[in-house]
Amino acid sequence: MPNDTLILKPGCIEGLNQQIVNEMHASLQYLAIASYFDDEGLPELAGHFSRQSEEERQHALKFVKYLHDAGTRPVFKGIPDVRNDFSSATDAVQCALDGEIKVTNQINDLVGLSHRENDYMTHTFLQWFVTEQLEEVSTVTTLLQVIKHAGPSLLLVEDFIRRMPTETEGADA
Ligand SMILES: [Fe+2]
Ligand SMILES: [Fe+2]
Repeated sequence: MPNDTLILKPGCIEGLNQQIVNEMHASLQYLAIASYFDDEGLPELAGHFSRQSEEERQHALKFVKYLHDAGTRPVFKGIPDVRNDFSSATDAVQCALDGEIKVTNQINDLVGLSHRENDYMTHTFLQWFVTEQLEEVSTVTTLLQVIKHAGPSLLLVEDFIRRMPTETEGADA
């Protein structure tokens, strides 16, 4: 689409493109956490973080689709390195929580940018992510608390995850 018919503000386009990378980075970080738990012989924790990884990829694809729908071809950049080494289950899940807090701030910054640029279409599109971040931060915070309560008995955490409602039973992904 030629520039004079662009319905998105240039600053927002840059921010939306960056968020594709941020979500893919989160996806890769979750895959690294899933691999850590797989290696530790904890299949439920591995499965949980593997599903989270897939969910983050779907988030990236939502940004891709939005840009296309608004007549702008996304520009893909490289994904920064992720952490692969963790000293404990607590350390790995703390890394997940830190990541979700970071993404929450990124989404908030993007909402602020869209507001400053009077890009209310993008502002509305981002509301789904605002709500999603509350759920993600809440879920990983609870998991971190459960891991701390369980101490060395990580099989209790495996059982906790097995009883967790899946995305299809709870809110939409
Ligand atoms: Fe996400
Ligand atoms: Fe997330």
